[in-house]
Order: sequence, then C-alpha cells, then structure tokens
Amino acid sequence: MAGHGLKAGEKKAVAIVGSTGSIGRSTLDVIRANPARFRVVALAAGRNTGLLKRQIREFSPAFVSVLTEDAAKDVARHFPYLRRAVGFGTLGASRAAAHGEADITVSAIVGAAGFLPTLAAIKAGHDVALANKETLVMGGALVMGEARKMGVRMLPVDSEHSAVFQALQGHRLRDVKRIILTASGGPFLRTALKGIRKATPAEALAHPTWSMGRRITVDSATLMNKAFEVIEARWLFGVTPDKIAVCVHPQSVVHSMVEYIDGSIVAQMGSSDMKGPIAYALAYPERINAPVKPFDITGKTLTFLKPDPRRFPCLGLAYSAMELGETAASVLNAADEVCVEEFLKGTIGFTDIYGTVASVLEGHRPWKVKTVDDILEADRWAREAARNFIMKGKCRGGRSI
Ligand SMILES: NC(=O)c1ccc[n+]([C@@H]2O[C@H](COP(=O)([O-])OP(=O)(O)OC[C@H]3O[C@@H](n4cnc5c(N)ncnc54)[C@H](OP(=O)(O)O)[C@@H]3O)[C@@H](O)[C@H]2O)c1
Repeated sequence: MAGHGLKAGEKKAVAIVGSTGSIGRSTLDVIRANPARFRVVALAAGRNTGLLKRQIREFSPAFVSVLTEDAAKDVARHFPYLRRAVGFGTLGASRAAAHGEADITVSAIVGAAGFLPTLAAIKAGHDVALANKETLVMGGALVMGEARKMGVRMLPVDSEHSAVFQALQGHRLRDVKRIILTASGGPFLRTALKGIRKATPAEALAHPTWSMGRRITVDSATLMNKAFEVIEARWLFGVTPDKIAVCVHPQSVVHSMVEYIDGSIVAQMGSSDMKGPIAYALAYPERINAPVKPFDITGKTLTFLKPDPRRFPCLGLAYSAMELGETAASVLNAADEVCVEEFLKGTIGFTDIYGTVASVLEGHRPWKVKTVDDILEADRWAREAARNFIMKGKCRGGRSI
C-alpha cells in the first residue's frame, strides 16, 4: 500500500484535510521541522482562505480545496499554477484526501464534515492519520471494514488513542484487560454543579491544559469528547465497550494507559502538545523530531479520579449509544454538533447540551447500517430532531445535570 513502501530517502507525500485548524496547523509545524521526510501534496480548508493562501505559498501543494465555489475561484486566481486543481465543498475535500500522489492523509476536519473525505482517503488506499474521531463515531464498523479491505493503516492522532497505540506496541491484543482513557476533566472539574448550569461559552472554551478548536474544547468541558473517544477506541482497537474505562487525570501528563491481564499498566506520558502524536502517526513506526517543548517529569504530582456521573453525564451516553448500536452513535455526534453550535451562539445553556442530546438519542430507533447513506441519513435525522427540540424550548428547564 502507499506509504508502506517508500524507498530510502524518499519523502512521504502528505495530504491534509482541515489544514487551517488546530490539528492542521500543528501537522504543518511537524512537517516544517522535518523537511527531508515529508512533502505536502494536497490541502483542504474551510473558510479561512487567508491562512490557506499562506500555506499554499509555503508548501506548493498540487491540489487544494475550500468550502465554497466563490472561494475556490478566488484561490485559483491567486495561484495560476493550480488552474483546475482547486476544489470546493465535500467533493473538493474528498478529492484532496484521496489525492493520487499522497501516501498518507491527515484527517483533521472537525465534525461530521470530515466523514466522507476520510472515507475517500481510505478508498484511495492511503494510510490515515486520524484526528477526526467523528468518522469512527459515525461509522466505525463500516469505516474499519473498508480500511481492512484496502489494507490501509488507521493511525491515531487523538492523544489518548496515540498513547494506547504506543502502549500496545509489542503486546498481543488478547492480553489486554482494559484500555484506560484519561480525561483532564476540563474547566468545570471542581466547579459547583450550580455554577456549571450557568457556564458561559467563554468559560467552557477556557481549557486548563490543551489548546484546541472550539467544538472539541466545549466537548471536553461536557466530557462528550471522552464519550466520542470511548467509541473511537472501540473501533480503532477492536475491543468491546466493557474493556474501555475512563479516569480523570487533571494534569494531562499520562495521555492514556493499557492494563494487561498480568496486572501491569503501561502508560504513555508527555507534554500536552498535539505535535507529539501527530509526529508519531506521520512517521510510524519510526520516531522523528516533534517540535515540542522538552517535558520535565520531576516535581509533578499525578492524580487519577473516577469521573463523577452527576457532573459528567455525557460520558454515559457513549455506552448507551454503543449498546443501541448501528446508527445510534451517528445520532449522538450530530445532536451534539448542533447543541455545541447553539451553546456557542448563546441559544441554549451549557447543561442543555446533555439534556438535548440525551433526549434525541432516546427518541432514536436505530436502523441497520448497510451503506454510507444509512449513516448520513441518521446524521440528518438527529440534526433535525435536535433543532426541533431546541426550537420548542424543551431543553430549558428540562433534563440536565
Ligand atoms: N485540536 C486538538 O488538539 C485535537 C485533539 C484530538 C482530536 N482532535 C480532532 O481533530 C479534528 C479537528 O479539530 P481541531 O481542534 O483542529 O478543529 P478546528 O481548529 O476547529 O479546525 C477544523 C478544521 O476543519 C476545517 N473545516 C471545518 N468545516 C469544514 C468543511 N465543511 N469542509 C472542509 N473543511 C472544514 C476548518 O477550516 P477553516 O478553519 O478554514 O474554516 C479547519 O481547518 C476534530 O475532529 C477533533 O475532534 C483535535
């Protein structure tokens, strides 16, 4: 497969979808720090064409994509060399992800918008450095089936899954007792429940240990992000939900752990900088220079706590969705995506996120996932159900924490 068979000295060709986001920018930092190892062949952005243009000037990709046709025309005008090699929308991002020259695609679009481009990369036979966890939340069974069929590697970028992946190296999956995902607990770990109900977008966006995009930051405050990561781990590592546990670790030093049947726990540690896991995914199985600040382990106190279900009810929704199976996790993601947007706009309160998503999930009767359309239909259904729920004001004074 592409990427596995590079000749000595040959540069790995990288496509990045979501290049203007937090993960996309960190990926380009890793590439900048390793110019002899990587070259950029395709970039896809959303609305930030200003930054994309600077990236094009620096990396000269062979194909780029943006969100709208107008923006695509504007980019093509600025870079005559790209001529017909500017796409837009989902199709454009999918063409970037599946670009013929790429050995590996970094999937770093946020939300359900990353699903089809990631699948396109897999179908093109590229290894995937997966940051867009929504792809596996929405269609884990189908996506992993496609990856197996194409013989491509799904290399985790999420720091927790990268930690698990690293802790699994040299071990047999059947010797795993539990995967333990760590969660920082976000900004409201010690806030009184009353205070959480009044949490503002600015407070939810003030993550204590990680700097990330807006959606994942809010999801980290509700722990919905951890719910998604539990589902992601289920598919990525092929383990049953009862083997995935979560513990709160406020210092974000241990990025996750694997407990083996002999009682040993193997943990991966490091600074809270996504360039570490990105570098590991890009160069796997080798290790390369990741431009992260040196990490000093001395003087650190590490604590591990059980997540409080009253404070973090969203976490339980992962296990409910996995039990329901089929389209349920796609519904979980889409309803949350709508709720986070509405929360950031100030339409709903912080704890309404859980109330709304839980109600939408409860109202869903999952259908069989045979094709991609079954997944996308569930996504549409959930968005409409969540919007209706919010519009009717049911989340106000309804179930929350
Ligand atoms: N940030 C982290 O530390 C981190 C850690 C682990 C996992 N992840 C996962 O990585 C993914 C990206 O997160 P992020 O924090 O990097 O998000 P982000 O900073 O919000 O960036 C999102 C990227 O997606 C692009 N985008 C959004 N909608 C798009 C669309 N419809 N078509 C094409 N591109 C679109 C954005 O383009 P514009 O900005 O140009 O509009 C941007 O490049 C998420 O799935 C997240 O869960 C992130």
